Amino acid sequence: LIHLLSTEGLSREILTHILDTASTFVSVSDREVKKVPLLRGKSVFNLFFENSTRTRTTFDIAAKRLSADVFTLDITRSSTAKGETLLDTVANLSAMAADIFVVRHSESGAPYLIAQHVAPHVHVVNAGDGRHAHPTQGLLDMYTIRHYKKDFTNLSVAIVGDVLHSRVARSDIHALTTLGCPDVRVVGPRTLAPESFSAMGARVFHNLEEGIKDADVIIMLRLQNERMSGALLPSSQEYFHNFGLTQEKLRWAKPDAIVMHPGPINRGVEIDSDVADGKQSVILPQVTFGIAVRMAAMSIVAGNEA
Ligand code: CP
Repeated sequence: LIHLLSTEGLSREILTHILDTASTFVSVSDREVKKVPLLRGKSVFNLFFENSTRTRTTFDIAAKRLSADVFTLDITRSSTAKGETLLDTVANLSAMAADIFVVRHSESGAPYLIAQHVAPHVHVVNAGDGRHAHPTQGLLDMYTIRHYKKDFTNLSVAIVGDVLHSRVARSDIHALTTLGCPDVRVVGPRTLAPESFSAMGARVFHNLEEGIKDADVIIMLRLQNERMSGALLPSSQEYFHNFGLTQEKLRWAKPDAIVMHPGPINRGVEIDSDVADGKQSVILPQVTFGIAVRMAAMSIVAGNEA
């Protein structure tokens, strides 16, 4: 694996190898062990052309725990604002001896473009491109599911909300089907959970009760208003009434179902605070697991595994 651009096309063996490698880093990610030297002398450049709290910070922490030198470009103050192209920015950063680029961009495909133009020794990790893919989120979601449910082969996983605009949903569906999950569901209004997702191996539901009935895992998604035009945009109240997850509605799922969310959450829109902060929520453990998973992703693409 030279670049990590998508979970699509990754074999079950590679996905499992990344999850297994991440589990070896848990003691480093929670600071029991301070650091490992796997990326000592390597330079990781964080290039976030779109906002981020969790992904950017956990990549930063992960690179530091691997002993890499980390540089986070402040895009708003970079020469992008003076008209420099993406490829020229990357070429100039490559001239500063970058080894890994972690890239988030609002345009689907931007990390692929960069990967096609970097020198062979440079690795690109996609930190989210448009609505296309968010592979490390998909992987940390798989890590979380495996942590709580042990095995994928008897699970029902429901992905609920604005699936259409979600790169997380796409990365999760590819990973879940490859890992042998027999029942992947997407649930939402017709405009945001179109039938076309059945081509990816998911069952499509437009009713929350039917969609989460007896589910083992529920992955809630926010309305990605920044990627919507007016016609698709439901009112928050109407959306919460039909698809917002409350404690009462959570009873439709299995009693031991876990509730996940990639964040940022919009309380009272797709999820009630009682659920987000409740006993079945694993939303914050997802964030913590993200450090170990990103350590695994960077050490594997760089070829510097333990
Ligand atoms: N889950 C996720 O990508 O969150 P951020 O946008 O805060 O990085």
